[in-house]
Amino acid sequence: MKTCGKIVILTGAGVSAESGLGTFRDTDGLWANTRIEEVATPQAFARDPAKVHAFYNMRRRAAAAARPNAAHFALARLQEHWPAPVILITQNVDGLHAAAGGAALQMHGALSGALCAECGHRWSAPVEMTPRDLCPRCGAAATRPDIVWFGEMPHHMAEIEAHLGDCMLFVAIGTSGAVYPAAGFGAGVARRGIETLEINAAATDVSAIFDRHIIGRASQVVPAWVAQLLDRDPA
Ligand code: OAD
Repeated sequence: MKTCGKIVILTGAGVSAESGLGTFRDTDGLWANTRIEEVATPQAFARDPAKVHAFYNMRRRAAAAARPNAAHFALARLQEHWPAPVILITQNVDGLHAAAGGAALQMHGALSGALCAECGHRWSAPVEMTPRDLCPRCGAAATRPDIVWFGEMPHHMAEIEAHLGDCMLFVAIGTSGAVYPAAGFGAGVARRGIETLEINAAATDVSAIFDRHIIGRASQVVPAWVAQLLDRDPA
């Protein structure tokens, strides 16, 4: 396959797994021991903000200690060298695409961000957030992680829909296809006749809608795929 138009790439937790960050739905994943309803909804935050902050403080510490792996670097390389735009959309909140030199639309927010639930002001999150933190703009004690929780609208959706509408290739990497709207991107572009590729360590519930599949660990197969696209040896 060789195409020279715009490529849209959606990444999920699998791309950061080999950087030491847990995925969500693998057997040892984050949701194996923690219930979504207790830490990842606006209702959970209203009920027990200390518990929600503790969960994201733990993940913020882990992300700060993590380093990008070969998959993140390869995707940044593709963005730099591909002759047409390469739009990277990530569900990950860890910032590792940027740390590798890539530019990603973080549709589920960022661990590095704080958000005031009262006035909508955004600023850099401290390593440890607490329910007592005050918004630097309005002074409300309503600061929350700048994370998109279940039941909330992901960021950048209009921009993402536009890119999905005029790309030549859509690639999903390291995502289980369990959470919408991201889980529906592949089916949406496939209906419009756009070529689709899934790269994952294993088959997923949405594998059937993809034209092609590369099965393997992201740190190995993503650099090889990028090298093939750019016609050069994996770095
Ligand atoms: P999941 O944990 O649901 O899926 C991770 C996927 O990565 C699985 O399909 C694995 O097979 C694959 N995988 C694991 N290790 C891999 C590796 N080394 N190389 C390649 N693939 C690997 O994570 P996501 O699909 O990202 O949302 O989850 C989507 C959303 O659900 C997250 O953004 C988060 C979560 O709830 C919110 O919190 C709003």
